[in-house]
Amino acid sequence: MTDEKTLEMEAPPDADRGTEMAKDDGPDAGTTADYAYFEGRVVPFEEAKVHILTHTFNYGTGVFEGIRGYWDAERDEMYLVRLSDHVERLVTNCRILMMDPGHSVSDICEICKDVVRQNQFRQDVYVRPIVYCSALRVGPGMNEEQQLAVYNIAMGHYHDPSHAIDVMVSTWRRTDDNAIPARGKINGAYVNSSLAITEAKRAGFDDAIFLNQNGNVSEGSVMNLYIKRGDALITPPVTANILEGITRADVMTLARDEIGIDVVERSIDRTELYHADEVFFCGTGAKIVGVGSVDRRQIGEGGVGPVTAKLQKVYDDVVHGRNDRYRHWLSPVYKG
Ligand SMILES: Cc1ncc(COP(=O)(O)O)c(C=O)c1O
Repeated sequence: MTDEKTLEMEAPPDADRGTEMAKDDGPDAGTTADYAYFEGRVVPFEEAKVHILTHTFNYGTGVFEGIRGYWDAERDEMYLVRLSDHVERLVTNCRILMMDPGHSVSDICEICKDVVRQNQFRQDVYVRPIVYCSALRVGPGMNEEQQLAVYNIAMGHYHDPSHAIDVMVSTWRRTDDNAIPARGKINGAYVNSSLAITEAKRAGFDDAIFLNQNGNVSEGSVMNLYIKRGDALITPPVTANILEGITRADVMTLARDEIGIDVVERSIDRTELYHADEVFFCGTGAKIVGVGSVDRRQIGEGGVGPVTAKLQKVYDDVVHGRNDRYRHWLSPVYKG
């Protein structure tokens, strides 16, 4: 990987750089790498292609993960954040679709690291493993034909963390656990997120907040959500049709242990968003991002709130290996 392929997600690359994908889609744009893991081996990226009949392409019948790696130039090392937790979630989620990932958690972790190594990434990276249904046939019923694929893209900010974003409560409700479970990180379920984010952007907002089928706050389009009211941080419970975010759990730990603020998991009403002192999103891709307004109602002073800013700093230190207490959250790629 060369520096040429560096990509801030807000600034899609020129058309003639690297292997291209989704060039003009704003924050979703990415530049891919030279190699991917596909059908049991690492192959040139252009060879990692699926047939038009592939079941997951037609029906969304896959499970995936998103893992970030942060490049540490001083140590000449790449650290993947919470690698085994992400892979364990992938393997556990396969149970929902009755899929067999075909590899152990430790094998998949090694494959993820190997793909980054082969690509010689020396910049922040996003690692995407997918377990997909590779059967070539029509009809949504699944069989045992499954494959693991892993690719990388260079990744900058999803939302610029130095600015608070303006969000709307989506008119789209979060998919219910008894319909398409949000905790499953199922490929096809992300149509729900696509509808919400696209609606929000076209209406002039930066992102969206989902309510669940009960009308309580669930999460963001691809991020979990916290509010601060009074002396505590509050986040919806895992039963609110959220993805059980790894960053959500990490924020909980860091808020309690590093900042000394209480965290409560409970249902959040829509209007509590408008009453909140602070609102922020968190997720692997988005990291921690402050919300300045919800439905055009200003939150706090309208910028990144003080507790949000503290958490951003603490989290940034942790993922960049500057806090030894959380070193075990990081997996080195090159020397590890
Ligand atoms: C719908 C949704 N919620 C929350 C998150 C945050 O999860 P994590 O912190 O595990 O990346 C994601 C991230 O991919 C997501 O897609």
